[in-house]
Amino acid sequence: MPSQPDSGLQITGTGVYLPSRIVTNQELEKLVDTTDEWIVTRTGIKERRISSEKETSTFMGVAASKQALAQAQLSASDLDLILVATVTPDSFFPSAACRISAELGATGCPALDLQAACSGFVYGLILAEQFLRTGAAKNILLVGTERLSSVIDWRDRNICVLFGDGAGAVVLRSQPGHRGLLAFDWGADGSSGHLLHLGNVQSRPVALTPPTPLTPDCFVMAGKEIFKLAVTAMANSAKRTLKKAGVKLDDVKCIISHQANIRIIDALVEKLKFPRERCFVNVHRYGNMSAACIPVALHEAGTEMNLQKGDKVLLVAFGGGLTWASALIEW
Ligand SMILES: CC(C)(COP(=O)(O)OP(=O)(O)OC[C@H]1O[C@@H](n2cnc3c(N)ncnc32)[C@H](O)[C@@H]1OP(=O)(O)O)[C@@H](O)C(=O)NCCC(=O)NCCS
Repeated sequence: MPSQPDSGLQITGTGVYLPSRIVTNQELEKLVDTTDEWIVTRTGIKERRISSEKETSTFMGVAASKQALAQAQLSASDLDLILVATVTPDSFFPSAACRISAELGATGCPALDLQAACSGFVYGLILAEQFLRTGAAKNILLVGTERLSSVIDWRDRNICVLFGDGAGAVVLRSQPGHRGLLAFDWGADGSSGHLLHLGNVQSRPVALTPPTPLTPDCFVMAGKEIFKLAVTAMANSAKRTLKKAGVKLDDVKCIISHQANIRIIDALVEKLKFPRERCFVNVHRYGNMSAACIPVALHEAGTEMNLQKGDKVLLVAFGGGLTWASALIEW
């Protein structure tokens, strides 16, 4: 494929899938020692979607992808790359990307999962842009899909009230003359990884022992530490991205941050001195869907924040790893 150095990334389609089952805080009151008042005050979450048996990460990712492809007026055979951000694939291999590719009928298209926890979608966007800018790919499908309900200990009130299931997908096209991704910043600090941890693969027997169920360990989280680290990392990353782009915060139409907790979002906008009403929020509806948060938010923000062509939108994420990422895009 010829090199197109002036090409940029353009979002040509978005799609979502959210399980129809809504689990309210009141329902969780019956499961663990909690209250709607505690959950709303500490997190802003009012309800979340929980998948049925058939609504796997693949199933949800396929549904979101079909919607995004339809909006982009593309078929699966037009894709040059499929990237899936997830911490809850149906299996290590085939990857979620290969499973989604098979369901879409994108045989032959390279497909891989990437794992950067809640930062996964923004990491994926940054990776995708490298291929689109150089002309190595023309159309990329980027999916964030999570079935966190399957790795939650539903007896643990510290964790189970925070998370939900869902998927979002975007189709990205290389568009000559369109800058698309104006600047980005990403990073990781594995030395603090133990503060947010899921799945103890190392502890599984490596010898040839009788098969043991490969049930991932459930979430472990140091909530207070993660809260502070998330706010600082996202604010610093956002500032670095704006500086690289040479864009003032005043010129940003909307911030779409990871949706983990309304207090984290509030602290972030306060630290950045950004008007709260220009920050997209849907955490009350879905809770934390890890890598699916930002693509679902992108899909909804277009209408809810009345985004127009050329508007600058700042994406900011933080997650297990620890990882963080931000990207300034032009709508
Ligand atoms: C988890 C979190 C909501 C807790 O809020 P907090 O204000 O820090 O709450 P605290 O840790 O002070 O806990 C206060 C008390 O509430 C209790 N509690 C925890 N979960 C509860 C629940 N669902 N219902 C009622 N009480 C609960 C705790 O046990 C603690 O009780 P104690 O004081 O008797 O020990 C908050 O720390 C947070 O959101 N952290 C970041 C989590 C996150 O975003 N993770 C993913 C990042 S990608």
